[in-house]
Amino acid sequence: MELNLKDKVAIVTGTGSQIGFGRGIALMLAKEGCHVISVDMDLAGAKQTAEDVKKLGRKALAFKVDITNRTDIDTVVSATLKEFGKIDILVNCAGKASGLRPFVTMEPEQWDMDIDTNLKGTINFTRAVLPHMLTKQYGKIVNFSTHAAHQPTGLAGSAAYVAAKAGTVMFSKTVAGEVGHEGININIIAPGPGNTNFHKASGNDPAMAKIVETLAEAGKTTTPEDIAHAVAFLVSDVSSKLSGQILEVSAPMGPRR
Ligand SMILES: NC(=O)c1ccc[n+]([C@@H]2O[C@H](COP(=O)([O-])OP(=O)(O)OC[C@H]3O[C@@H](n4cnc5c(N)ncnc54)[C@H](O)[C@@H]3O)[C@@H](O)[C@H]2O)c1
Repeated sequence: MELNLKDKVAIVTGTGSQIGFGRGIALMLAKEGCHVISVDMDLAGAKQTAEDVKKLGRKALAFKVDITNRTDIDTVVSATLKEFGKIDILVNCAGKASGLRPFVTMEPEQWDMDIDTNLKGTINFTRAVLPHMLTKQYGKIVNFSTHAAHQPTGLAGSAAYVAAKAGTVMFSKTVAGEVGHEGININIIAPGPGNTNFHKASGNDPAMAKIVETLAEAGKTTTPEDIAHAVAFLVSDVSSKLSGQILEVSAPMGPRR
């Protein structure tokens, strides 16, 4: 299958973690021919990923951005348009959770962080690129939810994070409907557990990190490559009739027969 991504310009957020999904996406898109704008609040990591994109023969820029800060985001969008004259692809992969704890014990700063990063960060970046994509009548956006956000009982201990990720789904579906006639596709990836930095970065959560490490040893985690393959498909024209869809990328989670 030919994805025809040569010389597409892709902004990918969350590329700083060197074992994360965002870096895997950046490198996969570069292998497929994209130039990559590597965005993270971890500048050293974003730069490292950009350097590795360049080693694949593509152009790359790196920016330190907090996706909760709309000024940071506007700077990236302007600099990308100045350098490349277009933005074909946005992958809103950056995300973080404040840690597992019952909702009744959460502090307001914790649920603000969950919602500001995962839901509002995605809204901020989507809003910043859409005017350009509408002018071009072309664009591909992939947003990140989680497997846990569409379970009947969510994920105990993660109420605000799961709410933000479920909100991301309906935000994406709604905007996908609004811009669907104008050459823009917006889809959602819902990863299963991945052995990235996510569980270690998510506050005081060593137990969850340990569970994911054990799953990884059994080959039951979602890898950056698993995610990157799905993203490459969604940002190509091969999937141009898919919009507002959730692609769950996960090892089987149910009981064995
Ligand atoms: N790993 C999992 O088990 C899992 C499961 C479901 C969904 N997800 C989602 O997948 C996405 C990628 O996570 P990952 O597993 O690669 O984690 P990771 O921690 O390895 O990478 C996440 C990256 O996002 C960056 N980031 C966090 N907050 C940011 C902000 N405000 N501004 C800019 N950058 C920020 C971090 O610096 C980090 O580089 C996230 O949206 C996460 O919610 C992960």
